[in-house]
Amino acid sequence: MSTAAITTTVGGPALPQERRLVTAIPGPRSQELLARKASAVAAGVGHTAPIAAVAAGGGVIVDADDNSFIDLGSGIAVTTVGNAHPKIVEAVQAQVAQFTHTCFMVSPYESYVAVAEALNRITPGDHAKKSALFNSGAEAVENAVKIARKHTGRQAVVAFDHAYHGRTNLTMALTAKAMPYKSGFGPFASEVYRAPMSYPFHDHLSGPEAAQRAIAMIQKQIGAENVAAVIIEPIQGEGGFIVPADGFLEALVDWCRENGVVFIADEVQTGFARTGAMFACEASGIVPDLITTAKGIAGGLPLAAVTGRAEIMDASHAGGLGGTYGGNPVACAAALAAIDVFENDGLIERAQRSARS
Ligand SMILES: Cc1ncc(COP(=O)(O)O)c(C=O)c1O
Repeated sequence: MSTAAITTTVGGPALPQERRLVTAIPGPRSQELLARKASAVAAGVGHTAPIAAVAAGGGVIVDADDNSFIDLGSGIAVTTVGNAHPKIVEAVQAQVAQFTHTCFMVSPYESYVAVAEALNRITPGDHAKKSALFNSGAEAVENAVKIARKHTGRQAVVAFDHAYHGRTNLTMALTAKAMPYKSGFGPFASEVYRAPMSYPFHDHLSGPEAAQRAIAMIQKQIGAENVAAVIIEPIQGEGGFIVPADGFLEALVDWCRENGVVFIADEVQTGFARTGAMFACEASGIVPDLITTAKGIAGGLPLAAVTGRAEIMDASHAGGLGGTYGGNPVACAAALAAIDVFENDGLIERAQRSARS
């Protein structure tokens, strides 16, 4: 048993920001829940930490046995502003008391529009933009591909080695790794092609050289005129936190522009202050045609978005995009509060300071 207090946190919930182990892990109460999980929950839904969470705040999670853990998992890159951030709690409570759901496609409401306006403002590029809201990162990726196909009238989509884009059928096809994401779950969506990623640590290629390798493969095996979209994580997450060589993303964007291909930056994981900037694309100065976001966007409530050039986003006929819960008002209230925190509480500057020190 050991206790190691930490002194800093983001957000400000009442939980002590400390590591506190008072039982072996898992403790008896956690073991009880894990036994119930094993008999009630499908085996395919795994877990990483063998604990029963009962509270979380700022940077800690407390389990049923009163152990307090420093939350390095952050709900898989979600709780960037800290768990249960007071501004988010307040916004969510107010919205829940007002109304929980109308379906934006049936009866529109202001907070959805305000989130779209905020995303159009803060995502890279000063061109005219529009947004559409969804529930999960995978759903945003699916819709970005739908939009790109509709806009271009083409079908092929290029993803990269080591990519992760989600667990739905199309996003499984885009995702590179078989285990645990794809194995036994096929057949997968067609017209998805895989190109070599820039991986300077292993391939020792410059960014432009790695881009030429990918472009040569695309031109030879697919044909530029058949490609609707190139989709890429500007820094790959699940694939191993792979930062492409300088100039790789820029050369890909240039090739896409020259060939009428929609460049989609999947910033589901890298977006919202995860990389020392609001979006990872900012480091290379690239401006994607479409950008997918989710995870940190709403401080832990399920929300996702596709944001991009207005003329591309408007390609779909009315009713072609949406869903029952996409842009749920409670999630939108949380997102507006989270974006306020990102913009006004100095998180990006703080991340940059930490990276330097
Ligand atoms: C880059 C990227 N895209 C898409 C997804 C899928 O997001 P979700 O799990 O919300 O469907 C993830 C999730 O880890 C991701 O990291």
